[in-house]
Amino acid sequence: MEFEPDFNKTGVNILLINGSPRPGSNTEALLSRVRSGVEALEGAAVSEFSFRAAHFGEPGYEEKPNALAELVEKWRAADGVVFAAPIYTAAGPGLVYTGLDLLESALTEDLASRRYAKAGGVLIQGSAPYGMAELGAQNIIERFVALHVIPSARLVGRVVDKRPPEDELLAQAEQFGKQTAENAKLIKLAYGLSPQTGAGILVLNAGVDDPQIGETIAARAAGVLRSAGTVVIEHSFAGKRLEGCHHCISYCGSKQTCLYRDDFQEFLAKWLSADGYLTIASANNLGPPSVVRRALDRLSEHVFQTALHEHLTRGAAPFAYPRYSRPAAAVVYGRRRYGGQIEALQTLIAHDVHRGNYPIGGYDRHSPLGAAGFLGQPSQLGSDQFFTSAIDTIAEDTANVANRLKTAKKLAFDTIPASFYASREKMGVIDKEVYRNEFEH
Ligand SMILES: Cc1cc2nc3c(=O)[nH]c(=O)nc-3n(C[C@H](O)[C@H](O)[C@H](O)COP(=O)(O)O)c2cc1C
Repeated sequence: MEFEPDFNKTGVNILLINGSPRPGSNTEALLSRVRSGVEALEGAAVSEFSFRAAHFGEPGYEEKPNALAELVEKWRAADGVVFAAPIYTAAGPGLVYTGLDLLESALTEDLASRRYAKAGGVLIQGSAPYGMAELGAQNIIERFVALHVIPSARLVGRVVDKRPPEDELLAQAEQFGKQTAENAKLIKLAYGLSPQTGAGILVLNAGVDDPQIGETIAARAAGVLRSAGTVVIEHSFAGKRLEGCHHCISYCGSKQTCLYRDDFQEFLAKWLSADGYLTIASANNLGPPSVVRRALDRLSEHVFQTALHEHLTRGAAPFAYPRYSRPAAAVVYGRRRYGGQIEALQTLIAHDVHRGNYPIGGYDRHSPLGAAGFLGQPSQLGSDQFFTSAIDTIAEDTANVANRLKTAKKLAFDTIPASFYASREKMGVIDKEVYRNEFEH
């Protein structure tokens, strides 16, 4: 039975996972504020799991109670998952990974259902200057993507060794809890309604060295997207003139447009108008082609400066960025078998989390962060069944999630916070009305 499309009344259960093995930990102190942030929202409640004394039947600990069943049960019941941990030698604590590895196997059937129905929040803190907490956060974000949890909020903090977290970080933790719960509400709404069709998906061909390969993949993906009820917006970076960002922020900060007039404007207009993204990129030198990075920098600087502009001119909270909340997925291919496909997917995921988009990794167990393939020429597409099925399923999933989110944003328009209505025309600006009046592409 469908429930009422009301954001405020949508009840969510947020699982707070404590990944610190230490009693009385900084993680625990931060999680208590995350809890307050979650509980400040109507209908949002928490459940908890702690890795502090947990074991998972690893060698030598077979006699200890195995916490896996509890973790799986709480995970399944949650609409959102907050993972909080200290950084240990540039990653989360090792014991946590033992639990996460087993969780992934235990959820095999859940993952086959292709539901991206949970929001994730990642909170990592450490005490060393330049202590690599970002790396730990990125790694957990990727584990979320592989587990079909949409990473939608992230907090990386620094504590002073042997002292509890400072007030500023605690306040940020509360805000982070609220953000995660809000994302969980939006996603739950999106999965509780019958999706309408008509979302626009930007199929971005970023295979610039041999554009024909990207075009062949894009054509295949576009067919799937159309059959799944979405409208395809095509764009190719091949041969496009695209200046890099020069950080001339007083210009874009005050004018909400970039100083450079080149092919960026065409890309930006399509990017803003879309309800979801499917990027098709070649893997070049351990990442996507450099034109992608230039384009992302310009999107990024522009959104940052215009958020500041909203604050200065309209009194919005400082650095309250719009939450694009649009699904983003990628297909990456390369001539080298392990030539940077995964790094390219990681780059795109990091950018999407930064942007407030919802990265989805698809269904393919061979490359859970997106569809990754080994492909030297267009005619080879089809020879690797794993790759083609990964392309087809990730396109279907992108369409499905985009249609669902767009439907939720339309039907629960009056109750969803304005920050989820990023402009379709101007970076960094919230303009909710456009969504009410202009649903169809
Ligand atoms: C084995 C170990 C490795 C650590 N490695 C790092 C590190 O790479 N970077 C860092 O910033 N802090 C590192 N730390 C410090 C912890 O992240 C820091 O003390 C944190 O606040 C502990 O959080 P907790 O109280 O929630 O357990 C490490 C601590 C331990 C015990």
